[in-house]
Amino acid sequence: MKIGNIKLKNKLILAPMAGITNLPFRLLCKDAALRYTEMININALERNNKATKKLTLTNKQEKPITFQLFGLRESPIKSAIEKIESKADIIDFNFGCPAHQIVGAGSGAALLKRPEKIGKIISTLVKHSSKPITAKVRLGYDKNNIIKLAKIIQDNGASAIAIHARTYKQGYSGKANWKAIQEVKETLSIPVIGNGDVTNGKQAESLLKHCDAVMIGRAAIGDPQIFTRINHYLKEHKQMPMPKLDEKINLFLQYYKLAKKYDLANLHTLRQKAQEFTRNLRNSRIIRKELNKIETEELLVKYMESQKSLNKTKS
Ligand SMILES: Cc1cc2nc3c(=O)[nH]c(=O)nc-3n(C[C@H](O)[C@H](O)[C@H](O)COP(=O)(O)O)c2cc1C
Repeated sequence: MKIGNIKLKNKLILAPMAGITNLPFRLLCKDAALRYTEMININALERNNKATKKLTLTNKQEKPITFQLFGLRESPIKSAIEKIESKADIIDFNFGCPAHQIVGAGSGAALLKRPEKIGKIISTLVKHSSKPITAKVRLGYDKNNIIKLAKIIQDNGASAIAIHARTYKQGYSGKANWKAIQEVKETLSIPVIGNGDVTNGKQAESLLKHCDAVMIGRAAIGDPQIFTRINHYLKEHKQMPMPKLDEKINLFLQYYKLAKKYDLANLHTLRQKAQEFTRNLRNSRIIRKELNKIETEELLVKYMESQKSLNKTKS
């Protein structure tokens, strides 16, 4: 599959997730064919905001990379693009974020009510960037309006569309409507990326019957190897075993090393990562409780290392 001139090595894509898909985490998602940054505010990019600059960190190992932008007005788009153009392989725009602050400011999912504005934003991005432009949308604001939205996105020059198959009003409730993704695929000529509720190989295979690639969000949190397992299933029709505690702790330690390297480590986020990486394991409740008591970064890493050796003594 290709997005513009960018060829993807398989059909699995890491979804953009604010607070999750920073550079260290993305580097652990080795078998995702394409990874998205966290969403980046175009106004903050234009102003050279320091925290926002950190969201633009990338390196060669994670290529191809999609930078996801969000905002409302077209005026900062040109200068926002100038800040990321040399780093990004693809530039995406967010028309689906349901967070109160974002929707309240008229951006993210609020734009689903304004198809003509979506068209203007896409055409402005296409005009000012030499990179393929993509859009990430939900099915609509309060009702399914995806065919109209998707056509506008394609007609204004987008190279692909990613669809989280729920409306804004649905939030995360109910089931993602994959049928709606199929209807878009039958209508558009650009690649369609399906998104919503994929957690395993079987589901990825079903959704791939309706679209060109599958985007995975929540199921990848704390589990960057999900892409390896699902790719294996798609090729071999066999399940790979789920990672054990030691493997998950090793992944956390790799994350820690990378976070240190890129100056992204602090107690709060490391605790969150440690909890994410150990969720759904046998001892995860006890680990979570212990992690909450720890007061320094060093002690937290030591605690995680000790869980590994503890596991060895037990087995
Ligand atoms: C913690 C979190 C942060 C998210 N941040 C973003 C974001 O920055 N941009 C975006 O387009 N979608 C964002 N999303 C939505 C996901 O990209 C995805 O569309 C949604 O979770 C549905 O896919 P899933 O069922 O595989 O999780 C976020 C979702 C979660 C859970």
